[in-house]
Amino acid sequence: MKHIISCEQFDADWLERLFNLADDMMEHPENYTQSLRHKVIATMFFEPSTRTRLSFEAAIMRLGARNISTENAREASSATKGETLEDTIRVVAGYTDGIVMRHFDKDAALRAAQVSSVPIFNAGSGSGAHPTQALLDMYTIHKCNKSFNHLSVAVVGDLLFGRTVHSLIKLLAVYDHVIIYGLSSRHFALPKEYVDYLKIHNATYIPCESFDELPENIDVIYNTRTQLERFTESDLAPKEFIVNKKVLNRFSDETILLHPLPRNAEISPDVDDDPRAMYFKQAHYGMWVRMALLHDTILNQ
Ligand code: CP
Repeated sequence: MKHIISCEQFDADWLERLFNLADDMMEHPENYTQSLRHKVIATMFFEPSTRTRLSFEAAIMRLGARNISTENAREASSATKGETLEDTIRVVAGYTDGIVMRHFDKDAALRAAQVSSVPIFNAGSGSGAHPTQALLDMYTIHKCNKSFNHLSVAVVGDLLFGRTVHSLIKLLAVYDHVIIYGLSSRHFALPKEYVDYLKIHNATYIPCESFDELPENIDVIYNTRTQLERFTESDLAPKEFIVNKKVLNRFSDETILLHPLPRNAEISPDVDDDPRAMYFKQAHYGMWVRMALLHDTILNQ
């Protein structure tokens, strides 16, 4: 049984195959309208979501499958009656051919996979991982005609709690000669386990504290939101690293600006029309990547 739990499970060949499939789906959607016909896929979200849930649900429908959903499983499922996640998953697996799940517990996707008889798709687990977001981030880079080897990427903002950064870093580390700049305030720096992961995989990691420290010709700036929902009262407020016109114009015409969204103040709307601002396209690419992932995973069990 193949589950999609963490970015550590992907290699370059698999990513290339997935992205080629997403390209083909985007070009010839009519060829895939029945590919998951008669399948039923559950979307269970124990945390709020706009993009991940709705793009997965759109992907399910565009592949001809049907969807059962609980958009607020934390309050509207039998979790409120004390049912364990493991029992919930055992039951829902019996109704479906796959379960897409977002959960506040870092280990929830793994726990679900351990008891599920159908594939689990991790749609975000606490501050730990968001592998399908990382897939669509990489797909966006691919669509911008950038090569993954020798790529330079600045991950910016809340690197402590930001699960999208944690997952993206693991996919970048699949490739050779990657340089990652970690731009954050000191208290919200990338946790050591991810810095060590990059070192083990021969990627260069350079922590920094100002946009001035980034090279002008950097390939990708990946800004992120402060994850206020993961803060305790004792946490310090991190400094915002705001990309506005003035900041973006310090960089090359080839630099692309990504953000997993939702954004707060860290990307000024005055750059939305800049051709380098890719975040809305990035969100749209998510549906095609998730279609490719559902198709590939469910049909190749
Ligand atoms: N990027 C992302 O995960 O967005 P949602 O929280 O809206 O799903």
